[in-house]
Amino acid sequence: MGAGRGTWGTQFGFYLAAIGSAFGLGNIWRFPYIVSENGGGAFVLLYVFLVFIIGMPLLVGELILGRSTRSGLMRAIDIVIDEGPKKDNEKFFRFKWLGVGSLILCGIVLAYYAVISGWVLHYLSQLTVTAMTGSPFDPSGTLSFLLANGWLQVLLTSVHLLVVIVIVAKDVEEGIERAVGFMMPLFVVLLLVLAVKSLSLPSAPEAMRFLLYPDFSSLSMQSLGQAVGHVFFTLSVGFGMMVTFGSYLSDRVYIPIAGFRVATMDSFISLFAGVMIFPLVMVGIQPATGPEMLFASLPVLFGSFSGGLLFGFGFFICLYLAALGASIGLLETIVSNFRESLSVKRARAVWLSGGVCFLFALLPALSSSVFQGFDFGGKGLLEFLDGLLINWGLPVAALITSQVVLYKLSDLKKKAAFEDPGSEFHDTEKIYSHWIFALRWVVSPIVILALALQLLSLL
Ligand code: ALA
Repeated sequence: MGAGRGTWGTQFGFYLAAIGSAFGLGNIWRFPYIVSENGGGAFVLLYVFLVFIIGMPLLVGELILGRSTRSGLMRAIDIVIDEGPKKDNEKFFRFKWLGVGSLILCGIVLAYYAVISGWVLHYLSQLTVTAMTGSPFDPSGTLSFLLANGWLQVLLTSVHLLVVIVIVAKDVEEGIERAVGFMMPLFVVLLLVLAVKSLSLPSAPEAMRFLLYPDFSSLSMQSLGQAVGHVFFTLSVGFGMMVTFGSYLSDRVYIPIAGFRVATMDSFISLFAGVMIFPLVMVGIQPATGPEMLFASLPVLFGSFSGGLLFGFGFFICLYLAALGASIGLLETIVSNFRESLSVKRARAVWLSGGVCFLFALLPALSSSVFQGFDFGGKGLLEFLDGLLINWGLPVAALITSQVVLYKLSDLKKKAAFEDPGSEFHDTEKIYSHWIFALRWVVSPIVILALALQLLSLL
């Protein structure tokens, strides 16, 4: 990476980092529990469909916005507004607030993400102690101890945030490209081994039927909103992360194909995680629901067959690496926007942003202990925050970003991103018009419909 604003050293480096930060707890921890809450196969089908018709066009839009302005979301919005016709500036001034709103969303997501990452650390440490002392692993005790000890969660959250801060405090290439580059191959191997192991369980056929057979009657009024929110969450769009990634992206990378590859890899990993997890969740126990589902169901299995603890240890390492990759991307997004607007030194921006995220994290970390009594329509504080951020906050932010890309980023810049430097694709005009059509006539109506259905179901 050269001096000034860095770019990804290699195209492969960009893919590693983008996939590493898109892929995370959303794929392994959140995807299974929302699939189970929404009845299985039909929701999976809806999700995959939405990844390609709304998630990918927005992902491409964010990458183009970032690369063509060489800026994070906040400065990118300033740039495109300043470049536009003067009479429009007034009208679009309010979009400036989108940058601030998205960053706050990014910070709250990182905070809540860090709490769940702390849960993963807890399981990793318990499994290590079990392996070292030879004492039996107590799955239900591990979860209930964690949930009852809010301050333990605060401690684990701060350990995770500290790891992320130290990595991001280095520069982009050293901090992110290398860390994610090391994580990904290890992760793919672990996931592969674990999925094969899961498929050999007797519950596998039933689990595969649940995951893949579409029973549309199991969808509810909220399912569309949950699927839309999850698509944005898992692809990391709506909170400016892909704008920041685009700003580091070399001019040689053909963005439409990069977006397609990242979206495909991410959904493939989610489905793969489903294949790995559902046979485990369905082994002779009553499947748990909500954010605790994965943590409550899986470890019961680990003590039940020989080599199970090793299996569990591999699983939680894999999950932690995924969480770390995504957390790095979230913090990098906040820091780069922060530095562009206030010209602060990198290390100071990292520590300050990390510190604010830690304060935000106190609420979800204490949700199952100090704030245990909170009840939002049958949901605890953690689940309520999860739904508020992902099912409402992200779709709104993503909708506004799509309008900025559509109406404020010049056609010239948008078209330039569709000209293929490798001349591999001849019909770039057609790809461009399909993309514009999707942004204008597919993304906005679907997101608005999803929000309206959620609102109706509340009433
Ligand atoms: N995209 C990240 C995930 O899926 C935030 O976990």
